[in-house]
Amino acid sequence: MKLGVNIDHIAVLREARKINDPDPVEALGILKLAGADQVTIHLREDRRHICDEDAELIVQKSQLPVNLECSTQSEIIEIICRLKPHRATLVPEKREEVTTEGGLDIITYEESVLTAIERLHAHEIEVSLFIDPDLEAITRSDALGADWIELHTGTYANIYAMLFSGLHNSRHSVKELELPRHTLKTRLDESLTALKTAASHASSMGLKVAAGHGLNYQNVEAILDIDAVEELNIGQSIVARSVFTGLERAVKEMKALIR
Ligand code: PXP
Repeated sequence: MKLGVNIDHIAVLREARKINDPDPVEALGILKLAGADQVTIHLREDRRHICDEDAELIVQKSQLPVNLECSTQSEIIEIICRLKPHRATLVPEKREEVTTEGGLDIITYEESVLTAIERLHAHEIEVSLFIDPDLEAITRSDALGADWIELHTGTYANIYAMLFSGLHNSRHSVKELELPRHTLKTRLDESLTALKTAASHASSMGLKVAAGHGLNYQNVEAILDIDAVEELNIGQSIVARSVFTGLERAVKEMKALIR
């Protein structure tokens, strides 16, 4: 199973101060050394983290394949066609959302998805569609000519968090958090079955299958058992963990300077 590392959150930290540090471009060499298989970034319409210059430099300098996530908006697709990353992953985007909530509705927005796929293919960029584990959406993805689908694992990750850490996030109400454990366990099993069924269906149609969103060091194990999934794209949990795996050294370096 391959790992694409999403480095948007490095740019989130930079944007908190509007300075040049930490620079996501600097992460490229570390990702390669650490054995990542792909670098993933999301050029959002509002440019809240990765900006055009980052995307351009990352595509230019990365020794790993670049998976560029984007909406189907015409101007954004034009930029992606010019940058020519290895892959474009079409995702839904809402300005008010904190992160990508739910998969792309390719049934309602079929026309704009098809236009984006055709333009990207004309520039020899392979296309992935970020969708919920829904069989009809998978069949449509194939009909529209997608090369990959990426299954949204957010529902699974949210239920896992509620069941094992008592956490909930914005996609779930506090009411759901109060569900009895056995109901949460049933929902977790159902969400995993949906991912497995969706992955097999896509793979049997000849689509390549990735998965991602909300995956972390605890919940990733069950996803690794899904044979048809070839790749995971993980961002937030890796960048969050790197703060703690790197903090001791960072403090020691500053202490040494002060001494
Ligand atoms: N895959 C896609 C298509 C995404 O939009 C995201 C979030 O940007 C991820 C994977 C990574 O999600 P997370 O940061 O929760 O690991």
